[in-house]
Amino acid sequence: MSYNAIMTEASIGILTVSDRASEGVYEDRSGPAVNSWLEEVLTSEWTSHCKVVPDEARTIEEAIIELADRVGCCLVITTGGTGPSPRDVTPEATMAACQAMLPGFGEQMRRASLESVPTAILSRQEAGIRGSCLVINLPGKPAAIAECLDAVFAAVPYCIDLVGGPRLETHDARLVAFRPAGSEADLRSARAREGGA
Ligand code: MTE
Repeated sequence: MSYNAIMTEASIGILTVSDRASEGVYEDRSGPAVNSWLEEVLTSEWTSHCKVVPDEARTIEEAIIELADRVGCCLVITTGGTGPSPRDVTPEATMAACQAMLPGFGEQMRRASLESVPTAILSRQEAGIRGSCLVINLPGKPAAIAECLDAVFAAVPYCIDLVGGPRLETHDARLVAFRPAGSEADLRSARAREGGA
């Protein structure tokens, strides 16, 4: 882990993937829903970098790479383009941009979403790592944003610790970030709670 990164303010990319939102046919409501969810949950400093792109694999891949490599995001959350329609290519673009995939994220988000909507099984959402950045796909429906993030975000801060990103802290009353007992990250949490480092 890069401890230089620990005090750095987190940059978080929010990438809306939608032909119609990118053309201005309708207003993007999913990107703002991701932003609101993060504002509600994160207590550590962060800035958002929002982009809206059409359902074009190459454009999506380039946007993820730009957010991860040039902007320096530790987390990129995409919304939209995960379904079975021919224009839905966000998972393919994510796989092309990432060096390693984390299938547990998609499995858990689908599991949680299936409790409220049977069509959750249609989402091919993925997550993966590019350098020091975690990329997570969410479906495009605004209602899916909180359901999916609530289902997986407890593991996100520790994942970002492990790839050398900045330390994310959450409102414990809203969502407890899980760091395995005895891990360096967990010991730092204990020291912070005691008023130390
Ligand atoms: N997940 C949740 N939590 N809530 C939803 O309403 N919609 C599903 C699924 N996952 C949905 C969901 C539907 S109808 C589709 S087609 C897929 O996500 C893909 O959506 P996308 O193409 O907008 O990414």
